Amino acid sequence: MKIHVKVPATTANLGPGFDAIGLALNLWNEAEFSPASDGKINITVEGEGVGKIPLDEKNSIAEAAMLIYEKTGKPFTGLQISCLNRVPLGSGLGSSSAAMLTGMLGANGLLGSPLSDEEILKLAIETEGHPDNVAPAMLGGLVASIVHDERVLSIKLPARANRSPIHVTIVLPDFDFPTHQARAILPQEVQRKDAIFNISRSIMVTEALRTGDLNLLGNAMEDRLHQPYRLPLIPGAQNALDAARAAGAAAVALSGAGPSLIAFSSKQDPKIGLAMQKAYAKAGLSSRIFELEPSTEGAEVMII
Ligand code: HSE
Repeated sequence: MKIHVKVPATTANLGPGFDAIGLALNLWNEAEFSPASDGKINITVEGEGVGKIPLDEKNSIAEAAMLIYEKTGKPFTGLQISCLNRVPLGSGLGSSSAAMLTGMLGANGLLGSPLSDEEILKLAIETEGHPDNVAPAMLGGLVASIVHDERVLSIKLPARANRSPIHVTIVLPDFDFPTHQARAILPQEVQRKDAIFNISRSIMVTEALRTGDLNLLGNAMEDRLHQPYRLPLIPGAQNALDAARAAGAAAVALSGAGPSLIAFSSKQDPKIGLAMQKAYAKAGLSSRIFELEPSTEGAEVMII
């Protein structure tokens, strides 16, 4: 028996919804899990991250898979994992959440699904530390999360992005900006006016995505809790954001902790990505453009 797992890229925060909302995108990592009997994990990787991703027990997918064996107390006899990665690493597109879910879902599938999807999601959120990438990667669509009584509650929100085209242009500059660094530079305390600024706008962002109102999305997709601290550390990012708006994007934000920027528009328009790329080039950075759509579907596990 083999298990095939697909997990989508995700964009977290969506401007003001810092650590609270995220959206799945139609860019998928895939992996095939088969049992082995040599007591080892053997991993192959194609696509994004080849040459960078460790192929031993330090591999994130392997670590996540081993957590499932520990959690369920099932004996580990060995694993063969073949990965096809499409989500770029360290990009702000949820590659680490995708890897974690891939490992957990693959191992759980091979063991005959001892853990439910809810249990996998809970374990992944606890391990990752914040839910805004993991939850949409698991559930698909637009997902809001809260921590209540030390438990995370994640709800898939209605989104027009599920039904009609809201186009997304991601531009990923060639700049190393690890999430732990992007979180460490944020202030521990915020001013009340900034909290109000973000709370009000994040409600509007979810409403704009529910109704497909890109005008409203443009007015609401502003942030005072993380972007003002992060954007100046990424060369050319502020200019790229402004260039995307000038080229016709309805709304633009840092994708997750960055360094990618995400621009929303009603249709695919190459001018948006090229304008952002030009701004990064002026700052001396090469960049890659990804033309995507939101995905209603979340992670998928198939027995093959
Ligand atoms: N909400 C997180 C952040 C997403 O902005 O730091 C990164 O995983």
